[in-house]
Amino acid sequence: MFERLVYHSKATQEFGSLGLFKLLTEAQLRNEQLQITGHLLFLNGEFTQCLEGPPAHIEQVWQSIHRDPRHCEVQILARHRTDERRFAEWSMAFSTHSSFYVHGMRGFFPVDDAGESPLVSMCSI
Ligand SMILES: Cc1cc2nc3c(=O)[nH]c(=O)nc-3n(C[C@H](O)[C@H](O)[C@H](O)COP(=O)(O)O)c2cc1C
Repeated sequence: MFERLVYHSKATQEFGSLGLFKLLTEAQLRNEQLQITGHLLFLNGEFTQCLEGPPAHIEQVWQSIHRDPRHCEVQILARHRTDERRFAEWSMAFSTHSSFYVHGMRGFFPVDDAGESPLVSMCSI
C-alpha cells in the first residue's frame, strides 16, 4: 500500500536553472533512499508536486518539504492511499520550460505552450 500526496505552492525566490537543478538532484537522491517516486511541475513561479511511496516515508519527506523556506502557501490538493504508483520510473520527474534544462538533469520533461507535458496530466488528483 502506498500513499499519494499532491500539493501546490509558490516559490519564495527567483529560481534559475541551477537552483532548480540543485533542488531536483537533492530530492531525487533522498527519494531514492526512501522509495519515493513522483513528479514536480514548475510553472510561472509555482510548484505542483505529486509524491508517492510508503506512507511513513511520505510523511517524513512531507515534513521537510512543508517547512522548506524556498516556497510558501503550501496547500495539499490530495492525500490518499493507493495500490499503485503512477511514476514508478522516476524518483522525481520534472516538467518545466525547456529553457530551464541543465545537462545531466534526470527525468526532465519540457512543457509545451499550454504548460503541458506527457506527465502533467498524470499528476491530476
Ligand atoms: C518545491 C520543492 C520540492 C521538493 N521536493 C522534494 C522531494 O521530492 N524529496 C525530498 O527529499 N526533498 C524535496 N525537497 C527538499 C526538501 O524540502 C528538503 O530541503 C530536503 O528534503 C532536506 O530535508 P531537511 O531540510 O529536513 O534536512 C523539495 C523542496 C521544494 C522547495
